Amino acid sequence: MHPHIDRILYTEEMIAQRNKEMGQAITEEYRDKVGEEGIVLVSVLRGAAIFMADLARCIDLPLEMDYMAVSSYGNGTTSSGRVRMLKDLSTDIEGRHVVIAEDILDSGLTLQHLLTILGQRKPASIQVVALLRKDTPNQIDIPCFQTGFVCPNEFVAGYGLDYAEHYRNLPYIGVLKPEVYAK
Ligand code: PRP
Repeated sequence: MHPHIDRILYTEEMIAQRNKEMGQAITEEYRDKVGEEGIVLVSVLRGAAIFMADLARCIDLPLEMDYMAVSSYGNGTTSSGRVRMLKDLSTDIEGRHVVIAEDILDSGLTLQHLLTILGQRKPASIQVVALLRKDTPNQIDIPCFQTGFVCPNEFVAGYGLDYAEHYRNLPYIGVLKPEVYAK
């Protein structure tokens, strides 16, 4: 285990199992709705890139992968309340079935913002799949088609989730030791 991690919440095996289950649920949900064009799987960079790459391989449908980048955290550990669009989609999603793959739902601001701007582009449907939903007070009520795990309100890192751009490459998700971000 990485020395900055206090304890592991979700092992590589637990994450792989949930991805498999969520991928099957997405496959069943869209099988009769999409034709050859398939779904558009949207990842919110940078944190969700690893989750989307694994989830995509658990979905047995044609799909396009596209990426958006927004930022709400900077290098801190709490949400700033601001969401900035850094990169837009390349795909025209009008008339398409869109699935947003998010690594973590915390305040809900990021997804609220994304659902608003993508919803204005007239997709056939838009749903959210979140690997983690943090158990946070005052979280915006974002409906998720699938949620991997409800996560305690602690600073988590690994499997795409960072602190100051570190720990994204850990294969598991763990709680960061407070002394790491108290410095
Ligand atoms: C994180 C995470 C989500 C968002 C969730 O992204 O990846 O996109 O925060 O927080 P919220 O529900 O409070 O809006 P971050 O802005 O840290 O960027 P990153 O994906 O590059 O790590």
